[in-house]
Amino acid sequence: MSAQSHRFTRTEIDKPASEPFPDGFVWGAATSAYQIEGAANGDGRGESIWDRFCRTPGRIRDGGVGDVACDHYHLWRDDIALMKELGLKAYRFSISWPRVIPEGRGPVNAKGLDFYSRLVDGLLEAGIVPYATLFHWDLPQRLQEAGGWPSRETADAFRPYVETVARRLGDRVENWITHNEPWCASLQSHQIGHHAPGLRDWPAALRASHHLLLSHGWAVPIVRAHSPRAKVGITLNLTPAEPASPSDGDRDATRHFDGYFNRWFLDPLYGRGYPSDMIADYAREGRLPKEWDEVVRAGDLDAIAVPTDFLGVNYYNRTVVRSESLPESDNLPRTVFLAPESEWTEMGWEVHPDGLYQTLCRVHFDYGPARIYVTENGASWSDAPGPDGRVPDHRRIRFLRDHFRAARRAISAGVPLAGYFVWSLLDNFEWDRGYSQRFGIVWVDYATQRRIPKESARWYRRVIDSNCAEAS
Ligand code: FCB
Repeated sequence: MSAQSHRFTRTEIDKPASEPFPDGFVWGAATSAYQIEGAANGDGRGESIWDRFCRTPGRIRDGGVGDVACDHYHLWRDDIALMKELGLKAYRFSISWPRVIPEGRGPVNAKGLDFYSRLVDGLLEAGIVPYATLFHWDLPQRLQEAGGWPSRETADAFRPYVETVARRLGDRVENWITHNEPWCASLQSHQIGHHAPGLRDWPAALRASHHLLLSHGWAVPIVRAHSPRAKVGITLNLTPAEPASPSDGDRDATRHFDGYFNRWFLDPLYGRGYPSDMIADYAREGRLPKEWDEVVRAGDLDAIAVPTDFLGVNYYNRTVVRSESLPESDNLPRTVFLAPESEWTEMGWEVHPDGLYQTLCRVHFDYGPARIYVTENGASWSDAPGPDGRVPDHRRIRFLRDHFRAARRAISAGVPLAGYFVWSLLDNFEWDRGYSQRFGIVWVDYATQRRIPKESARWYRRVIDSNCAEAS
């Protein structure tokens, strides 16, 4: 379906943001395996790169590890009951590759696969639609030792893993996301080095990005072959890039940043190949692998451009770009989040709901995916339970309401937005920030594993029930 085939009448375009969302709009919440499951050594799970990374001194700010996290591996029944209580229509979770195939390749761990099968049955019984992500960063450590994503063999190994999961769950799971945020799994992990495996190597990062995209392209037909009603897509984290000033330098830095963060992934997925301006920039800067022509083999770009059923968009903030570089940014254009009047979450991310509207419109008008889901959006604030036991996270309510309004405006502008997943269902392990960041609409007491729905969760239930961002 092209952008043009999604038609809206004049009256629809005129509707204010307070209008209800379209019938059947999918309201959900998202999590990922390493961030909530725990049971790191449970039932035959293999080691992942995040288990290793967390044990490397200095990598995680508060020294946290995902060994227990929210203990969702054991508490999944309670968590489904909680989702039901919150009125969620859908739940996005990820499958841990090392839980299913502990060494990355080879023998399947039946107990690991059974866990996801039970989870899916439980969701369906509760009337909650599962959205399964096949890779949310927890690569089996064994595959890392064999070269990780910079090696084409990891993309090869992804195929049997995907087939194993799709064969087992494909009769019941209809919504599939191949990868979560390949920018993070490549650039942030292999060039910036903040995420596992923590490298600072440009050519390795660019090779990783290609192999992630390639493995997506290979995975789509495998999922479809084993999941007859499958709708398959990929999730990208996107950010609108704006120049800090109208100067030529800032504008060019913005073009470069947009190419690096957004177009490097969107262009090949939508059949345009890698952006030529970025290939030229990277080659000039010595960042492109010398053997790029061998990295991108004949047929790869066609595989990556396989038509999908939807695009998942994770949106958190905008990026304001300056041309001058900071020494520690390794010649990346300097990015500026600071606007004096802005509000900030505890992640240090600017609150900027209009960026969601811009991002959704840009993706729709420039690339025309058949459908779009916001597969993640949310905010980190650590409001804690008060004496009355309630968690008054009013900033999160305002944040979500303003982003829902932006999403509703995008629908009025013609964007085929089909659903919205709040990040996150639970407070959880926030990667290199450990347990210091609380994104949940449900508070988690990590000592007792008690869950307390925050006020935002109660408010979200009213949004879902009324299908309208303006719930009181
Ligand atoms: C996204 C990740 C997700 C979570 C949020 C805050 O980049 O996909 O796992 O960490 O950020």
